[in-house]
Amino acid sequence: MLKKPLIAANWKLNLNPKEATAYFEDLKKNISSSDFENLAFFPPTIDLQVTSEQLKNTPAFWGSQNVYTEISGAFTGENSVEMVKSLGANMCLVGHSERRTYFKETDEEVAKKVQLIQKHEMIPMICVGESLVQRDSGKTFEILNAQMRTVINILDENRPFVIAYEPVWAIGTGKVATPEIAEEAHQFIRSQLSELLSKEVAQEVLLLYGGSVKPENAAELYKQPNIDGFLVGGASLKVDTFLQIYKATI
Ligand code: PGA
Repeated sequence: MLKKPLIAANWKLNLNPKEATAYFEDLKKNISSSDFENLAFFPPTIDLQVTSEQLKNTPAFWGSQNVYTEISGAFTGENSVEMVKSLGANMCLVGHSERRTYFKETDEEVAKKVQLIQKHEMIPMICVGESLVQRDSGKTFEILNAQMRTVINILDENRPFVIAYEPVWAIGTGKVATPEIAEEAHQFIRSQLSELLSKEVAQEVLLLYGGSVKPENAAELYKQPNIDGFLVGGASLKVDTFLQIYKATI
């Protein structure tokens, strides 16, 4: 069951299986089992086996940083929803801006992945966000609208999903969005959900902010009424800073 706050760790291409094991062992020493209800982990795919072992018997959310648009076949180098699910994963990150930028993922591919993830009874965490050029040219809402619309067209609103707003200009740059900028985008996303799906779904869905979240800025951001948690990259790589962010929200 998803509840506020939800603090998600996106390790990106960092931490090998041995380091992942040490991370989770350290984490488990520092929090109680019920805290895991508020945490999500997206390790590199090669760490999913140890993640599965380490998070077994906890209520944590976890899964891969991406999945392919097909379930099986001749697609060298890819991983499918079914494979990730077979390890016990319950969530998948999808549409991260690094996937969209470096791997040229389109809104349509993101939508197809969301559909597959939901079909396999896992929860998609769908990333949306504008680039600096798009923001500077006044296109933020237009971009968010286009990204949301394509996904919403295929989304099953009766199954859980999470949206992460990550302005591309704030990811890994140290430039965090001000609480006002983040709140404005979150409000817009919620209004889109209300218009395109329903008021009830819009109220219930968790909207996370991502982009240079740190222990120093987490509390201020979390005070905003439409920010329900965070998707954390760099600061999630150390148990200590990740937990400081979580503790800033409780
Ligand atoms: P960052 O990354 O916290 O390092 O800016 C966030 C993300 O890309 O998910």
